[in-house]
Amino acid sequence: MPFKADLKWSDVTPKSVWMNRRSLLAGGAALIAAPALGTPARAATRSPWSTDEEPNTFEQITTYNNFYEFGLDKGDPARNAGQLTTDPWSVVIDGLVDRPGTYDLADLLNGAPIEERIYRFRCVEAWSMVIPWQGFELAHLLNRVGVQPSARYVAFETLVRPSEMPGQRSNILDWPYREGLRLDEAMHPLTILATGLYGEEMPKQNGAPIRLVVPWKYGFKSIKSIVRISLTAEQPATSWNMQNAREYGFYSNVNPNVDHPRWSQASERRVGAGIFAGRIDTQMFNGYGEHVAALYAGQDLTRDY
Ligand code: MTE
Repeated sequence: MPFKADLKWSDVTPKSVWMNRRSLLAGGAALIAAPALGTPARAATRSPWSTDEEPNTFEQITTYNNFYEFGLDKGDPARNAGQLTTDPWSVVIDGLVDRPGTYDLADLLNGAPIEERIYRFRCVEAWSMVIPWQGFELAHLLNRVGVQPSARYVAFETLVRPSEMPGQRSNILDWPYREGLRLDEAMHPLTILATGLYGEEMPKQNGAPIRLVVPWKYGFKSIKSIVRISLTAEQPATSWNMQNAREYGFYSNVNPNVDHPRWSQASERRVGAGIFAGRIDTQMFNGYGEHVAALYAGQDLTRDY
């Protein structure tokens, strides 16, 4: 069955699978079959990459956001992102690739092995959530477009459209929002392009229609509403690093031993945990160290922060 551009996750997935925590537990969560396979969603074993921690609620995940294109307050993205046009959407893939081009979103998703990934998400501001994303490995897309041997980094850009993104009418950041990864980080199976959460299409405030999620790095690396992916030989410029290089390094791996110059990174507040809940200890690489520490062998992470 060819992929239908207007197919929503909610069309292929019984909502109860996503909204009902009990069925999540009973079914051991679910793996979404890619629509291109022509099969409906089926219960399967939990992805080995997923955490079994209790996910935050849909409400929490979609009303407490950072998306400066829509304003600075945590509630601004939910209030203002509704006006963003996400269809049509295309992504330019260029630089050191064999098949550069402007890819329509439906083409980009065609055959993509989309699955659920329940990831911890740790913001540099020291709050955290657990989010059930749907997405596919960035490596899948990079392999499809053909990365040339000279490529060493992947650069990403968000849409610039001040008419629909009121935050872009001021210069809080040098737009477009830009992020980047080293190629081995980008190819790591934990790194996904997310297209939805809780079985719903990606809410606009969370970065519709397609965003990056890199769970062992601070949340600002997980760039939203992507319109360009470039393979480069040189380390790309990234928005927060451009704004304040001392406070926001290129790597920005979650690291409880390297404090932000203005606050400790040793602990975090789990959003929605309630006023009596204590702070929880922040884990090295946000708890993904067994999978990613080897990427940084030989690097001094206090210098490469
Ligand atoms: N992407 C864009 N384009 N603009 C942003 O302001 N904020 C980042 C990141 N991606 C941001 C962005 C920050 S600081 C965080 S913590 C996460 O998005 C928040 O993702 P969430 O709102 O889905 O939790």
